[in-house]
Amino acid sequence: METIYFDNNATTLMDDRVFKILVSSLQLGLKNPASQHQLGRQSRKQLEITRKLVEGLLGGQRQGSAEDRVVFTSGGTESNNLALQGICGAFPQRGRLIISGIEHPSVTVVAEMLKKDGWDLQIVDTLPNGQINLGHLGSLLNDKTRLVSVMLANNETGVIQPIADIVAQCKNHGALIHSDAVQAVGKMAVDFQQLGVDALSLSAHKIHGPVGVGALLIKNGCPITPVLYGGFQQNGLRPGTEACPLPVALSKTLELYLDHQDANIARLLELQLRLENGVLGLFPTAVIIGHESQRLPQTVCVSFPGVDRQALMMALDVAGVCCSTGSACASGSSEASPVLIAMGLPEDVVEGAIRFSLSIFNTPVEVDAVIDILSEVLPLLAE
Ligand SMILES: Cc1ncc(COP(=O)(O)O)c(C=O)c1O
Repeated sequence: METIYFDNNATTLMDDRVFKILVSSLQLGLKNPASQHQLGRQSRKQLEITRKLVEGLLGGQRQGSAEDRVVFTSGGTESNNLALQGICGAFPQRGRLIISGIEHPSVTVVAEMLKKDGWDLQIVDTLPNGQINLGHLGSLLNDKTRLVSVMLANNETGVIQPIADIVAQCKNHGALIHSDAVQAVGKMAVDFQQLGVDALSLSAHKIHGPVGVGALLIKNGCPITPVLYGGFQQNGLRPGTEACPLPVALSKTLELYLDHQDANIARLLELQLRLENGVLGLFPTAVIIGHESQRLPQTVCVSFPGVDRQALMMALDVAGVCCSTGSACASGSSEASPVLIAMGLPEDVVEGAIRFSLSIFNTPVEVDAVIDILSEVLPLLAE
């Protein structure tokens, strides 16, 4: 039985071209960019070139006295931790911290921790269409608001957030804004300067790069403190010996996927539409969650009201289809999705929701096979 992998928001297959770059960079060996000898100096040079490349690919400001910064991290979770803890930690006095109710746990759990530390944590409501409630955000913002963290696009529904409006509201109150772009990069246009956010998180393994590397892009002048201590690397903001091959692989990943972004998006949109139309053709009562909003092209969050999502996911797994219930990083979880609950969706819609997430390596044949499999398993599961 061939496996059909429709769980690409959890992680993606590494692109062969990225794999080759990673391996050849690893084979160079003996490369500590902090060493003063020539091997160290070479690798420092390569790392700093890579940093500039990544910054440029994401639309950071690279020249003059107002350069933005790229901090290489181990991935999205660390970038989000650094953004929230680091930016809040840079303020001498605690204030208000606002996040949305649909953030990844690497934002929500950190925010809860900061609340225990005295921060006034406020959660913005989410509308049933998957976007945050801008009116509610407006009512929460005050002159004590230090940081607002709202993701660019959601990992479960793919719904893209109205970031320009969010940024405008935050700027009116002098609040800094961080955005988790882990699912968005490579699947929609992401330009750091145009977005106007102060910090942006990304992760390589969501776009066919290696797991274990990501970045936090930080606007020039944005106050931030480290969360780890004990070294001077990356200006002391993320100490520890820099693993040169990983940023190099991240940079190659971005180069490959941003260069062909429009074609990739078009391909994903075709697959998304084929899957959604196929599902709705067979099951007219199915609900495509977030369909009223602009969504990422790789995500299909679909609910079959009356069906148990966990049973469906397991039946699909037995049939060789990998998908998920709940959030990307809790693929084995049987708890109802906090994102769908935050959207205020009816209980039967939440209970029956699963997520298919596609990649450019998927094919229309696979989409059709999944629709066929659904047509076989769903009637057996419907209550
Ligand atoms: C929106 C979002 N943010 C952050 C993360 C965490 O990224 P990483 O797995 O690189 O730590 C994920 C992972 O699923 C995600 O979907």
